[in-house]
Amino acid sequence: MPVNSTDPPMPQLTETDRELFPVTAGLDSGENITIGGCSIPDLVAEFGSPLYIYDEDTVRHMCRQFAGGFKQAYERSHVEYSSKAFANPALARIIAEEGLHMDIVTGGELVFAKAANFPPDRLNFHGNNKGREELAEAIDYRIGRVTIDSFYEIGLLNEVASERGVRQKVLLRVSPSVDPHTHMLTTTGVLDSKFGFSIETGAAAEAVERAMAAQNLEVVGLHFHLGSPIFELEPYSQAIDYVLNFAAQMRDAHGLRLAEFNPGGGFAVGYIGERLPPPISAYASEISEAVRSGCDRYGLDEPLLTVEPGRAIVARAGVAVYTVGGIKRIPEVRVYVSVDGGMGDNIRPALYSSRYTVRRVREPYATPQEKVTVVGKYCESGDFIAKDVDLPPLEPGDLLCTPASGAYAVPMASNYNMTTRPAIVMVKDGDARLIRRRETYADLLATSLV
Ligand code: LLP
Repeated sequence: MPVNSTDPPMPQLTETDRELFPVTAGLDSGENITIGGCSIPDLVAEFGSPLYIYDEDTVRHMCRQFAGGFKQAYERSHVEYSSKAFANPALARIIAEEGLHMDIVTGGELVFAKAANFPPDRLNFHGNNKGREELAEAIDYRIGRVTIDSFYEIGLLNEVASERGVRQKVLLRVSPSVDPHTHMLTTTGVLDSKFGFSIETGAAAEAVERAMAAQNLEVVGLHFHLGSPIFELEPYSQAIDYVLNFAAQMRDAHGLRLAEFNPGGGFAVGYIGERLPPPISAYASEISEAVRSGCDRYGLDEPLLTVEPGRAIVARAGVAVYTVGGIKRIPEVRVYVSVDGGMGDNIRPALYSSRYTVRRVREPYATPQEKVTVVGKYCESGDFIAKDVDLPPLEPGDLLCTPASGAYAVPMASNYNMTTRPAIVMVKDGDARLIRRRETYADLLATSLV
């Protein structure tokens, strides 16, 4: 439609909100927030509340930003989506179409990858305690890589691979004792961690020796993962230098050839306007530069570089929507606004004190009149979505939404208080399709026996 110069300007999201919401987000003529050309109230009318909305264009955009950004900085690189951030067959299909690799950490995540016919040679199996069955299922699917995390696993995987007459390509997960200054519960690359072989204690050197001696394992490289979300760049380069130095020592001592190198994921995303992450290009150049200069310093051939973002691929694509119920005012103390979801569908605020932006779906920028604390419906005082946030006046039935909810909310969801987990829709070009239906009471009863 031609825009008449006398028409009032179309309302739109603020500049900061455009960084937090999906790339397709906007406002419709009634000033309701829209995602992928679908207005949120219409989606709730069709699919119910609470609702998780994923925007396909944003997922594809992030895949391209990562793959392109890293290729530009380091030609021999690829990106491996960490499916724990959100495992879903419809999503896995998009990840496969975009040419990314994918990591899994359980037999369950493998089942989801299989359901999407994810190319097995592009899968990497992580995890600190994989079971015999899980390893067997992965080998039977001809999985590309297994990243070994313990001495027990070296023996176990070698046995399972030998029973199947396979020589399995593996990476060894090492721990570089570098603190990336993130939440204690999501820090993994420090000495006191259950993950990986510590370089500092000598365990990693012993693991290289043992794994290289295992007949049915082919050690193709090393992996580490520092934690997440990491807002700083320097921990990556510090850890890369340390691990490449270690790789050179292992080459000299045991003939290790570092064909592949994977410095993990952990790239931060914007949850609130006050704390935005560095651009992907900054992570890409820091990591690439550190790999190149480390290889040069220690006389190593430049390896194939893999990075494994989970959160950064899907967080921005997902928006959670809730309906307001009761409102409790405690004069001069606090205003509690209860919604129909909470820690059952997003435990991150309760678990990590994570902060989220909350917007009223209708006229999100109407003048706020008071600070409110948005809480869930679960029987826990720690069940909240956001504390003391400025929101326009609210009434029961109003819709609220939280952007940047696409990672680690739904995958960590529970049925606490016997609640049903929400529906998930994928939107694109004005269409919405269900990619997970809402659970029913029958689902809740299905696994219990009377
Ligand atoms: N690679 C490995 C080996 C990992 O353990 C993880 C995450 C990733 C990659 C992906 O990290 P990302 O790029 O998504 O930050 N539940 C927590 C996050 C736990 C992450 C566990 N491992 C949260 O909600 O923040």
